[in-house]
Amino acid sequence: MEMKIIKSPAEMQHQAIAWKREGLKIALVPTMGCLHAGHLSLMRKAVQNADKVIVSLFVNPMQFGPNEDFAAYPRQFQIDCDLAEKEGVHLIFCPDAKEMYPEGFQTTVSVKTLTQGMCGADRPGHFDGVATVVSKLLHLTIPDIAVFGEKDFQQLAVIRQMVRDLHFPVTIIGSPIVREADGLAMSSRNKYLAGEMRTQALCLYRSIQAAQQIVARAGHDVAAGTIIEATKKTVAEAGGKLEYAVVVDEHSLQAETFVGSSSVLAIAVKIGGVVRLIDNAKLFIVKK
Ligand code: PAJ
Repeated sequence: MEMKIIKSPAEMQHQAIAWKREGLKIALVPTMGCLHAGHLSLMRKAVQNADKVIVSLFVNPMQFGPNEDFAAYPRQFQIDCDLAEKEGVHLIFCPDAKEMYPEGFQTTVSVKTLTQGMCGADRPGHFDGVATVVSKLLHLTIPDIAVFGEKDFQQLAVIRQMVRDLHFPVTIIGSPIVREADGLAMSSRNKYLAGEMRTQALCLYRSIQAAQQIVARAGHDVAAGTIIEATKKTVAEAGGKLEYAVVVDEHSLQAETFVGSSSVLAIAVKIGGVVRLIDNAKLFIVKK
């Protein structure tokens, strides 16, 4: 069956309702397009777990700050459609911003505490934009499951909280970070990394590896401060600008004093003064 492409929100909802009436299980994978292997891994998970998979391609203006890269954000609609179709996706939902936010639009979804630190502190209003658009996408596609990447670790926590707080009838599935061969986490923004910046960008993954090694080698409790200092050093040596490095509990996102079994190191770094990259990982590695 050919993959459907729907632009109109009303038509999207109509299709989702029709599928639900047929008793079909729907999965949603929300994206801003410029698809890479990380996005494709979410689609694969969705295809395995649902009858109909909807991928949204929407560069959401509401989640970009005034000085951020909304206009420059890479867009490649046809390539994205081809990639999604190869994964067995059934429908691409690609609304216009004018239809998602018509004149007079005035409702915002805001998750309070979880959005205060980390990316929320660096990007005021960002998570209101994310929570609002994801609410809208959930209402328009009525999925049984929605798949999000652990790459955007704070975003995943915010969405889980929102779904709980507002009783969305959907199960949120988190999916592991997909990396390039050298460890750089895949991101649509990696397209901005010209020349030397690509090498500098490795400092995020290097910081994570160093932190995991410190924890693995220590025969005692490791202070979060030790991990953060090591990260500062790694990032500075590479010539990056550290925006934040935190050791937090994976669920509450509260800062921790000592590394424990649910501790995550989350970092944001600006490369070349312009490209903001994020990464994160659990600090205790469970040996398989
Ligand atoms: P975007 O950055 O396009 O990411 C879409 C989804 O892909 C997110 O769930 C993100 O965590 C996941 N993802 C990105 N890089 C990944 C990687 N390397 N490995 C695994 N998953 C990865 O996140 C957004 O868009 C937007 O905020 C959105 C949720 C669509 C709302 O506008």
